[in-house]
Amino acid sequence: MRKVVIAGNWKMFKTRDEALQFIYNVNMEIPNREIVESVICAQAPLLRDLVKRQGDNLRIGAQNMHEKTEGAYTGEVSAALLENIGVQYVIIGHSERREHFQETDESVNKKLHQALRYDLRPIVCVGEPLSVREKGETDSYVERQTEKALAGLKADEMEDVIIAYEPIWAIGTGKTATPEMANDATRTIRETIGRIHDAGIADKVRILYGGSVNTENIGDLIAKEEIDGALVGGASLSSKNFLRMLAIAQEHVT
Ligand code: 13P
Repeated sequence: MRKVVIAGNWKMFKTRDEALQFIYNVNMEIPNREIVESVICAQAPLLRDLVKRQGDNLRIGAQNMHEKTEGAYTGEVSAALLENIGVQYVIIGHSERREHFQETDESVNKKLHQALRYDLRPIVCVGEPLSVREKGETDSYVERQTEKALAGLKADEMEDVIIAYEPIWAIGTGKTATPEMANDATRTIRETIGRIHDAGIADKVRILYGGSVNTENIGDLIAKEEIDGALVGGASLSSKNFLRMLAIAQEHVT
């Protein structure tokens, strides 16, 4: 049984005051982390404050990091620093970074290796644009993205990797993939991991769905056998909605 992960991706939202208010609102009500893994991924300058206030059950993630250990890379954030301040998760290869910041499958792969080197739990994003889905090429697209992202990873590193299937056409659009569509693509990703390693390893990797997840649809999505949780953008900004989604996840598990 894979443990459910519900991760909020706040993107470039929230000031420090808003972030601290959110943590204050949710802290006492986050489900036990042995049952549901709850994560908030915030802008880099908020991370230290959030880690200090994360409580027993919430964990904090970054939204990006650089692939190199240190150096003259103005404006970038290293995995070493994230680990050093107590961050435990990092989103890698979000489609917004691939689209607006020229991230490639190759840089995603390098970042993934670097994150694991520093004991950060990577949440690696894959997912197709609408044109690919319309051509009926979703499976081969996510298969290739998955293979390239995971290239060179050892079998024993795979257990720490979380993958998020986020179809680009469903992000921020209010168009959620149906639970069946999300489950199919997630299965394709799992089968790809099975081919790279073996079915036993693939069976342990958590694969999330992301793209217009909210309090209304999360239950049907995580009820699908291949979907192990959600990466939630807009709906994670409200503490009330975030807690509601965690409660639904907890009900699903128990
Ligand atoms: P929305 O939930 O706002 O569609 O965003 C999804 C996402 O990109 C999470 O990483």
